[in-house]
Parts: sequence; C-alpha cells; structure tokens
Amino acid sequence: MTFMNILVTGGAGFIGSHTCVALMQAGHQVIVADNLSNSKAETIDKIKQITGYDVTFYRVDVTEEETVDDIFAKHSIDGIIHFAGFKAVGESVEKPLAYYYNNIVSTMVLAKVSKKYNVNRFVFSSSATVYGENEVPFVETMELLPTTNPYGETKAISERILTDVSKSNPDFSVSLLRYFNPVGAHESGLIGEAPTGIPNNLMPYVTQVAKRKLDKLRVYGNDYPTVDGTGVRDYIHVMDLAEGHVAALNNLTEGVHIYNLGTGQGTSVLQLVKAFEEVNNIEVPYEIVERRPGDIAKCYADVSKARRELNWIAQRGIAEMCRDAWRFNTFAD
Ligand code: WQD
Repeated sequence: MTFMNILVTGGAGFIGSHTCVALMQAGHQVIVADNLSNSKAETIDKIKQITGYDVTFYRVDVTEEETVDDIFAKHSIDGIIHFAGFKAVGESVEKPLAYYYNNIVSTMVLAKVSKKYNVNRFVFSSSATVYGENEVPFVETMELLPTTNPYGETKAISERILTDVSKSNPDFSVSLLRYFNPVGAHESGLIGEAPTGIPNNLMPYVTQVAKRKLDKLRVYGNDYPTVDGTGVRDYIHVMDLAEGHVAALNNLTEGVHIYNLGTGQGTSVLQLVKAFEEVNNIEVPYEIVERRPGDIAKCYADVSKARRELNWIAQRGIAEMCRDAWRFNTFAD
C-alpha cells in the first residue's frame, strides 16, 4: 500500500479530526485546511498527541481559490478528503444562501484546483440525507429524492458536480461517502463531538443532559411507525466512519464510486437513551414532545457494497458509541 500526502478539508472538525487520526495511523501524511468556523485549533494538537505525528495546518477558507492554490503549490498532494462544510439541517433552512455558497463553491474550487495540479483522488463527505424519503434500507443505486432542506441539496448537488467532473476526465477518481448518523469519540477521550451552543443532534444533547448542563432530553415524537414510536436511525461510531475513509482512499480506482457508511442497524431514540444509561450507569431524564419538522421516521443503510468492494464493515456497536461519547464529555471540561 502506498503512503500518501492527503489534504483534509475540515480536518479540525468532528469527523475530520477522527479521520486524520485513522489516516496517520495507516501511514499517510495529513495537511489540514479548516477555517475553524465550527471547530477549534486545539483539536490539531490533540491529533498530534494521539498519533505522535506532526500535522500541517492551514487556517483557511476553502471557498477561496487563490488560498487553495497556494496549498497545492506548496505541497505534493496525492489525494483530498473534503469534509469542510456547514452541516446543520435546521440552520440551512434559515440560511440557504450561506449553505449553497459555502458547501458548493468549496467543492467546485477544490475540484478545479485538483485538476490544475493533476490530483486525481477525491473523497467527498456526503450524507444519507440525499436519499430523501426513499424506502429503507437505503441502497447506493437508488434514485435520489428531493431532500427536505438546503443542507441535503448541497450534498446532492456536490455529488453531481464531482460525478460530471469525473465523466469529463476519467482519471479523476471520486468516492462519494454517504454517512448515516456519526456518534461517539476516539477511545482516548481527547477528541469528539463538541458542537457550539445547544446541540441539534441526539447524542451530544444526551451527553449534555447526562452532565446536567441541560435539564432533560426532548424526544421529538413517539408516534412514528417504528418499534417504540420514536425515530429510528443508523448510528455509526465515528472511528468506524474514519476507517471507512481510509478504506475508500486505499481502494480508489478510476470513475465515481458511491458507498453507504453505516452499520445497517436501526436504533430508536429511546433504545439509544436506554443503552446510554446502562453503559454509563447514569440517568437521562426525557420528555416526549411534538415531532421535529423535516424528520423522517426511519433511516438506515444497506451496507453490503462497502463490505464487498472496500472490505470494510463497522466494528463498534451502540454500547461502545455511548461509552466513548460519554468518556469524551467527561474529559472535555
Ligand atoms: C436523530 C434522532 C430525532 C435531537 C442529522 C442530519 C444528517 C446528519 C446527522 C450530517 C431523530 C431525534 C434528536 C433531540 C430527539 N448530519 N432527536 N431529540 O436528524 O437523523 O440527522 O444529523 O450529515 O444529515 O439530518 O440526527 O441526531 O438530529 O436526530 O428526539 O434533541 O433523534 O428526531 O429521530 P438526524 P439527529
């Protein structure tokens, strides 16, 4: 296996930082470009602490072509993993232009500069959101349906842009990775999911309730057609997700390849709360409230393609996700 120089945009973020750790532990070198709009510079130090290797870090906005060009001119880059982007579904409804500009222009700039410097490995951080209200389990060959929000549309549009660029230049190899619900943290407890402000997502909200920083979890609806009426999702440990990126990079061939990165298992909100309480021996008070607009009942993956083509399968279960998420939160403050 050849060791590569990988540009990781958004590498100071939740999934990006864990992927940097997995890349470096697999023998690759990492250059991080991140504007720290939703992450902290100290995370770069934590990545170095975990791996024992150095990381080149640029605090930059990857929608700026000249800035991105400078990085490619300075470094011999073998591949890109593009995480940098805004990712809050609700916020995207309130600020569509910011989402379309940031998420799509960054993808176009990176693809353009990659072609200029003949960098032909591009791994893109996509999302299960692009499936819209398809029937579960979601399969890569499904026709994508309109999503309920600008965030999801930016992912679908970015996928189409990268697909068309690859069609125009077959050497330009693209891997589109559709994430389900990333949760948990590196076992060291040094890096994890630390959203600014009140968390939108379930697991960071649960950990804040467990820390008694928030009074109780509001469960958004228990009248869905699911095992216990609450929303069902395919939660995947962030380190499994990170290792999936290394597998995708190492197995990248010409053309465009789409992979679901999930566990294939659905877990309800109440099942996750119960698992968290049992694993960490802590109570998480909750109240059933109205459904959240835009939520779907069930979302989980068919993961057979990644297993078959990348020889990758999620190794960690819900209990480990809950244990690692809690360990990070007890260390974080
Ligand atoms: C999970 C479940 C909620 C919070 C989003 C994005 C998706 C991806 C992952 C980027 C749902 C319920 C949540 C709370 C709750 N992000 N919930 N109370 O909405 O499945 O996916 O994050 O790629 O694109 O859409 O994740 O964690 O917000 O919700 O009851 O306070 O937990 O209704 O059933 P979601 P989530």
